[in-house]
Amino acid sequence: MDKAKRTAIIAGNWKMNKTPSEAKALLSEIAPLVKDADCEVIACVPYVDLAVAVEATKETNIKIGAENCHWAESGAFTGEISTGMLKEVGVEYVVLGHSERRQYFGETDETVNKRTKAALAAGLKPIVCVGELLWERECDITEEVIARQIKLDLYDVSEEDLKNVVIAYEPVWAIGTGKTATADQAEEVCAFIRATLAKLYNQAAADGVTIQYGGSMNDGNADELLSKTNVDGGLIGGASLVAEKFAAIVKAASK
Ligand code: 13P
Repeated sequence: MDKAKRTAIIAGNWKMNKTPSEAKALLSEIAPLVKDADCEVIACVPYVDLAVAVEATKETNIKIGAENCHWAESGAFTGEISTGMLKEVGVEYVVLGHSERRQYFGETDETVNKRTKAALAAGLKPIVCVGELLWERECDITEEVIARQIKLDLYDVSEEDLKNVVIAYEPVWAIGTGKTATADQAEEVCAFIRATLAKLYNQAAADGVTIQYGGSMNDGNADELLSKTNVDGGLIGGASLVAEKFAAIVKAASK
């Protein structure tokens, strides 16, 4: 499939930033700047901001995502949030397996897989994050690491469900460091992800999946990254908190 036929998606991952009132203010700043976007625009925000964010974007083209979800429908899981809770608030997307969850909160490929299946079963669209550490790249095992994450994170996800999965390639060494993967490095791994999906499913299924790049993407480098054949969008951290910068990335994806 031609890149132009895949949905380009620019998603902000706000991480642990913005209170509900700050979220409302930022979204009302972003909304007019991205209203003519020719790509999907998403803001993934902290749990306590979700209701306000859904309300603030009701009449706009911005969709709202959460930053995680639990796999159980309910029960004794103190501090966790279920897919049903997210659905009822009006959330459409959910970031899963972010490297910060893997690094600081014991997230494993097994739990990412459970969350991914639960999200899909509930009708949420998971943005599944994969990426290698710096030393894994230096040891030249990037492809092994990525293939393993893709296979495990998507274990038992049907071809039909794959249509609702977004993959974000986020090299861990590029997150919040100001070090961006070069456009060629991003393309190389995004193409490898698509080839891995083609082996697991088939070429047509793989060709339909939106693959984002994330890691210090900003208004200065988005154009070049997004010009690559297999880079269909971006998952943006820092730059998604500044309306003009985020809007510029959305504009780059709309070409
Ligand atoms: P930065 O854009 O701040 O590097 O963060 C990327 C990221 O982790 C998005 O999920």
